[in-house]
Amino acid sequence: MANTTEAAAAPFGRDGGVLTVGGVPVDRLAARVGTTPFFAYDRSLVTTRVERVRAALPDGVELSYAVKANPMPALLHHLSGLVDGLDVASGGELRQALDTTVPPERISFAGPGKSAAELTRAVAAGVTVELESTTELARVREAGERLGLTPRVALRVNPDFAVRGSGMRLGGGPQQFGIDAERVPAVLAEVGAAGLDFQGFHVFAGSQNLRAESLCEAQRATVDLVLQLAEAAPGPVRSVNLGGGFGIPYTARDTALDLDEVGENLAKLLAVSLRPALPEARVVIELGRYLVGEAGVYLTRVVDRKVSRGTTFLVVDGGLHHQLAASGNFGQAIRRNYPLSLATAPGGPEETVTVVGCLCTPLDLLGDRVSLPGAAIGDLIAIFQAGAYGLTASPTAFLGHPAPPEVLV
Ligand SMILES: Cc1ncc(COP(=O)(O)O)c(C=O)c1O
Repeated sequence: MANTTEAAAAPFGRDGGVLTVGGVPVDRLAARVGTTPFFAYDRSLVTTRVERVRAALPDGVELSYAVKANPMPALLHHLSGLVDGLDVASGGELRQALDTTVPPERISFAGPGKSAAELTRAVAAGVTVELESTTELARVREAGERLGLTPRVALRVNPDFAVRGSGMRLGGGPQQFGIDAERVPAVLAEVGAAGLDFQGFHVFAGSQNLRAESLCEAQRATVDLVLQLAEAAPGPVRSVNLGGGFGIPYTARDTALDLDEVGENLAKLLAVSLRPALPEARVVIELGRYLVGEAGVYLTRVVDRKVSRGTTFLVVDGGLHHQLAASGNFGQAIRRNYPLSLATAPGGPEETVTVVGCLCTPLDLLGDRVSLPGAAIGDLIAIFQAGAYGLTASPTAFLGHPAPPEVLV
């Protein structure tokens, strides 16, 4: 635990024992924000992460940011100056993406259950709709006819393989995501007959994967599949979105992904098979949490400290209503602590404490028997790895507490 926390905390730095975000000590930042709890994102950590990814990926591979990971407007605007494209999953995210400097043709709209109204907006905007079903194809075609526009589309494919080691599987077997690979040739014929502007393929088979060899294997299988499907394409393949799924370490048993191994494998794949076969295709890697997850911290204040039958509880003013994932109730089968530390200067000796949120449910557990330097009421606790799937993936209305501010520093 100590090592995971140290690794998660190190990039932020400390000033006189106080954690800093963007160089600002968090007690001062809390005063600036005016309230706790809040989320703070470190701008320079996002920038260096994008640079690191670009350095590892082969030349010419485009990087797309999956807005769902963190749609905070300031963060999105910062990222839009760093990446090549944005991937959105709803009409709301589409609106936000269109407010950035990323051109519509570099925005993709993926995800199941896109309504006719959302698809009409996407066609009017000129973004690439990642078709996930023939219903969506019909809706897009109809929207194009109504608007007098040629919809730009790609096919999201549900592959005939699953990716080992993904925290969340989004491909292989029966899925609500994408069009089953074996049905793709028939759908490509429909796309051609409908005169849609066919761009290419999108395969996103899994998320939160820390195993480089599994990601490499998935990329190999994806390239093979795309080359096979391309034979039935109604025109040249202009875009191949290979997905992503790069994971970040959340708990003591996680080890950071070997990014260079993934990049080297991809370079070989591109040189040997993808680029010779599909020379006109832009190759896209789509990442959410890997770009922002480790750049964010959730800061919450100790409001009570009590001992119950030998266990010391630190009760904080935040909880699972803001940072559900840290309570273990979002994407974990077995609850494990997220890295967490005292953010203000230590006041007492190291002790074992249980950190709980302020909601009246035992699920609101943020740190189960963690070792922390003595913390008092008023001190700040930092929960790391909070930059992705934090606030927007949490039940903020639960128990009626106010929503926390978010700041980009
Ligand atoms: C289509 C698509 N793209 C991108 C992502 C982002 O995944 P991550 O944040 O793990 O990189 C997801 C996650 O569910 C997804 O479904």
